[in-house]
Amino acid sequence: MVQEYKLFIGGELRDSSTGEVFDDINPATLENLAAVQVAGIEDVDRAVEAAEAGFRAWSAVPAPRRAEVLLKAARILQERKEELAVLMTKEMGKVLLETRGDVQEAIDITYYAAGEGRRMLGETTTSELKEKFCMTVLRPIGVVGMITPWNFPIAIPSWKIMPALIAGNAIVFKPSSDTPLLAIKLVEILIEAGLPPGVVNVLPGPGGVVGKAIVQNPRIRAISFTGSLETGKWIMEECAKTMKRVSLELGGKNPVIIMDDADLELALEGVLWGAFGTTGQRCTATSRLILHEKIKDEFIKRLLAKTKSLRIGDGLLPETDIGPVINKAQLEKIERYVRIGKEEGATLLLGGSTVDPGLPGYFFEPTIFTDVRPEMRIAQEEIFGPVLSIITVSSLEEAIEVANNTKYGLSSAIYTRNVGNAFKAIEKIEAGITYVNAPTIGAEVHLPFGGVKGTGNGFREAGTDAIKEFSEVKAVYIDYSGKLQKAQIDSE
Ligand code: UN1
Repeated sequence: MVQEYKLFIGGELRDSSTGEVFDDINPATLENLAAVQVAGIEDVDRAVEAAEAGFRAWSAVPAPRRAEVLLKAARILQERKEELAVLMTKEMGKVLLETRGDVQEAIDITYYAAGEGRRMLGETTTSELKEKFCMTVLRPIGVVGMITPWNFPIAIPSWKIMPALIAGNAIVFKPSSDTPLLAIKLVEILIEAGLPPGVVNVLPGPGGVVGKAIVQNPRIRAISFTGSLETGKWIMEECAKTMKRVSLELGGKNPVIIMDDADLELALEGVLWGAFGTTGQRCTATSRLILHEKIKDEFIKRLLAKTKSLRIGDGLLPETDIGPVINKAQLEKIERYVRIGKEEGATLLLGGSTVDPGLPGYFFEPTIFTDVRPEMRIAQEEIFGPVLSIITVSSLEEAIEVANNTKYGLSSAIYTRNVGNAFKAIEKIEAGITYVNAPTIGAEVHLPFGGVKGTGNGFREAGTDAIKEFSEVKAVYIDYSGKLQKAQIDSE
């Protein structure tokens, strides 16, 4: 018998209104880790009510005092890092080295957000009138809804939850159904750190029911979502109906450009890590390799040799480089894209199939296509798996044109020893992030994270932008002249 997990509403574990549970499956072993109660529409209403009460209490706490709760949570996360990392590898498959990194990212953003509690800066400015003072202050939004994916089960929720908390909001949070345990653990830690009841509520359940009810709830004032472009578009349309703020982070088709003057060994390591780390299941994963024709043959030769040496298997084993993909549907999606790539006329250089490392789970070989044309679907659509498409170019201008030829714009990278090439790439690549001589993955929490075009709607997560994501700005005018002064009229 596996342990059953309830919903987290109003600071307590509560039975869901549906009476149903779903299985939490280890994608490497297919072992069932837990039975998790499925939240329903009524539970969303209950959670919103609890969050409204939580909001009244929490928003009245001064931000530096809120920070103390976050600092304590960061310390507990640190103490429990290994235990959480092991659980995460079991829950979603990525290798232990990376799940430790995921927990570390949560620790980092929690400390960072706590530090912001002593800033929460507004502006003071001049007035056009005498004896009048002007400033801005940040106010919390209210109850905010969060819907998060499974690929960073504790880091991505923390990017959203910690800044929202320091800014004084309360939260209704639906984690991915593939990683409910990490979400529940995160909120348990916040409660242990002293977060008042109702400030964060967790509702595992299907996006089509729970996610939808959160997005449509008129008492929720903002939504923060990380996931697919299609769902993001739907959420944005729905949020218009109740005039909710919505911040979206919707993936990418991230390019690495390798110029003929690059350090090829360095570039090789960066491509392997960017394309096949996390089994390619990052929004920031390298999915397009744009090679200068002069180094193409040499680079591909080295890339094939290194990729063949990567070991696929259980992420808990130290020798494993690549863990499983998250579930059957995702495995089938990757297989479908391999078929599409072949049909489109790309050359399958390596991989392309499922593989059995002695475990029953969802394993797929690192896969490389070459002779890819920029307009092919495998060069345009997000696959979210270990599939790399190689496109050859003959100049930097062409490389940048190819890099920009997608509907997404999250991460990007260029390998070059020429400072002029590097700055041209920084200037011209349409993306929220550009790396020079580093892979497309590995964003740090004190810089803004997000993208342009189909990747989002202008918001950035992490960094100081995260505070803005979850705050309203109020302009304040204080007239101490003792008389009626008319702006734009009494201007002498
Ligand atoms: C994601 O893939 O959705 O920059 C987030 C990175 C990580 C976060 C990735 N720090 O790759």
